[in-house]
Amino acid sequence: MDSPAEISVVKTAWDWWRLAASYEGYWLASRRLMGILWEFVRDSTPERLRQRYGDADYDWDYRVNTTSGAVGWRDRLLGQFHSAYQPTEPAAFHEMLNALQQSLNPDGTVLNFRDFTFVDLGSGKGRALLMASEYPFHRIIGVEFLASLHRIAQQNLREYKSNSQKCFAIESICADATTFLFPADPLVIYLFNPLPESGLRQVIVNLEHSLRAHPRAVYVLYHNPLLEHVLGESSQFRKIASAQQYSMFTNISRRPSS
Ligand SMILES: C[S@@+](CC[C@H](N)C(=O)[O-])C[C@H]1O[C@@H](n2cnc3c(N)ncnc32)[C@H](O)[C@@H]1O
Repeated sequence: MDSPAEISVVKTAWDWWRLAASYEGYWLASRRLMGILWEFVRDSTPERLRQRYGDADYDWDYRVNTTSGAVGWRDRLLGQFHSAYQPTEPAAFHEMLNALQQSLNPDGTVLNFRDFTFVDLGSGKGRALLMASEYPFHRIIGVEFLASLHRIAQQNLREYKSNSQKCFAIESICADATTFLFPADPLVIYLFNPLPESGLRQVIVNLEHSLRAHPRAVYVLYHNPLLEHVLGESSQFRKIASAQQYSMFTNISRRPSS
């Protein structure tokens, strides 16, 4: 049984500060660090805790634990330095998947999820993995670097029960998304703001290398796309759809209409 190491809060804060100080100097980095700690304190009030439990309806429906309300102080503090855990809202997820299903292959046929592996980079407690299992993906992989969230995801994957589940080959991996080796399958990659700009750039470089080694279809669903310019700058990807809450990219080129 795997037991991934817990990440140290002090080391994370120190690494964060050193990197920030190398860009913007000691004074600004220290001020921003104080800002992060202050935000953490504000985020710990009973009022904020109540707000975070506002995302728990999904858990009542499926008897799982994916709410951001039940995240310990340690993981919330680490989240301030990386990306805070927040589960995807079901309506938004299904809207994105339905929009993706409308995408056409270059030969004009509709996209068949059975051909694709779904990868959630920064999968947290695994809610997006559970929701993706309602579609007939070939398999589903989540990558989460906080060990405690990954363990909860594993438990959710074991306990999830739904009559409409279509994919049962699901796994959560405890790893850093910036070093994750993409499987050589056609991919649907899901991003819900897991990474800062440097991390997202690294992921795109890794993906481009992987595509050169194993050319295949890749779709990127980017939810709340704060850094979508990073994908826009990639010569391999083009934007095929966008709405208020998401953008969608692919490396598949459209066949010119005759
Ligand atoms: C906004 S949450 C999204 C959770 C999940 N994808 C969902 O939609 O329900 C972002 C997650 O990314 C994780 N994360 C941040 N940096 C990461 C990294 N370098 N590698 C893997 N996961 C990371 C955080 O711990 C957090 O759980």
